[in-house]
Amino acid sequence: MAANSEVLSNKQVILKNYVEGFPKETDMLVKASSISLKVEEGSNAILVKNLYLSCDPYMRARMSFNQDPDFSSFTPGSPIEGFGVAKVVDSGHPEFKKGDLVWGTTGWEEYSLIKNPQGLFKIHHTDVPLSYYTGILGMPGMTAWAGFYEICAPKKGEYIYVSAASGAVGQLVGQFAKLMGCYVVGSAGSREKVELLKNKFGFDDAFNYKEENDLDAALKRCFPEGIDIYFEHVGGKMLDAVLLNMRLHGRIAACGMISQYNLSQPEGVHNLMNVVYKRIRMEGFVVFDYFPQYSRFLDAVLPYIREGKVVYVEDVADGLENAPAALVGLFSGRNVGKQLVVVSRE
Ligand SMILES: NC(=O)c1ccc[n+]([C@@H]2O[C@H](COP(=O)([O-])OP(=O)(O)OC[C@H]3O[C@@H](n4cnc5c(N)ncnc54)[C@H](OP(=O)(O)O)[C@@H]3O)[C@@H](O)[C@H]2O)c1
Repeated sequence: MAANSEVLSNKQVILKNYVEGFPKETDMLVKASSISLKVEEGSNAILVKNLYLSCDPYMRARMSFNQDPDFSSFTPGSPIEGFGVAKVVDSGHPEFKKGDLVWGTTGWEEYSLIKNPQGLFKIHHTDVPLSYYTGILGMPGMTAWAGFYEICAPKKGEYIYVSAASGAVGQLVGQFAKLMGCYVVGSAGSREKVELLKNKFGFDDAFNYKEENDLDAALKRCFPEGIDIYFEHVGGKMLDAVLLNMRLHGRIAACGMISQYNLSQPEGVHNLMNVVYKRIRMEGFVVFDYFPQYSRFLDAVLPYIREGKVVYVEDVADGLENAPAALVGLFSGRNVGKQLVVVSRE
């Protein structure tokens, strides 16, 4: 029997039931199933070995029952899915062959059968860490790049504020803004993260929003002349305080609102009238719309990494057993930098 037709044990992270409120480790179960390492004759599928899995806040929406075609629910009793880096073990698809490295949507398990591999990106540059394709060279990197350069329309010298600034997307937005010659302030939820923002990512200033009684006052302290661009990651009270501090013709890139994801009733926003009289442009975006520009993105960002102009901090959980804790940790700020899970290093 050929080696790749073997049936192997396949550890998986299973969603037990739809989630309400804050997700918990116990909403998931790590258990072994089995899988054949050979794809069926005549199928277009590929069989991959998962190497790195990405923990992303949008996955929370997929843990609840919903009928949103963009964020369709996970299936209780089955492995959850997310972005990951994987190696092709067997392929029935003409564009993929054994040994290819890919990133894209895969299962939270050791091996996955991917029936529609067309959406995967092949990895051609391996002089940078492979795990980067869950972060700076994957979906979060594209988010920072498209959100900052396309949605924010930044100009040299502008005042930029980034919330959840030390995370997968935020640390990059801040560094892109510095490269453009902007003044950049970030907020994050611990002293350790604030140090990282100032000393590792080169933000001009940073504050711990959990230690501020008055967010409006904190923003006035950091931006006495107001904010030109807000890269929005958290929503809620932070957005309300930012609206009070925006400058005329400011831009808000609405990337995410993580403070709202686990609430049964979203908080209200009270200061929206500022959008009118300050002529603010607030625009939401979803990174998937920019995936066709991936090679342009790589051309821009790979040199930054190789030349050391941009650094990237990862928070690495080892093994699928630790994956549920890593995922739910996003919602309490446990992660320092991009949260990922190593399934296998080869
Ligand atoms: N539009 C898109 O296409 C797109 C794509 C990717 C990501 N996003 C969004 O971008 C945002 C950042 O994602 P990411 O992958 O970079 O995650 P991340 O920042 O690496 O991790 C999430 C962070 O959010 C902060 N957080 C959690 N709960 C919070 C709360 N109640 N209030 C304030 N901050 C809270 C925590 O940091 P602190 O310690 O600082 O609190 C946590 O570490 C999320 O809103 C996500 O949904 C959008």
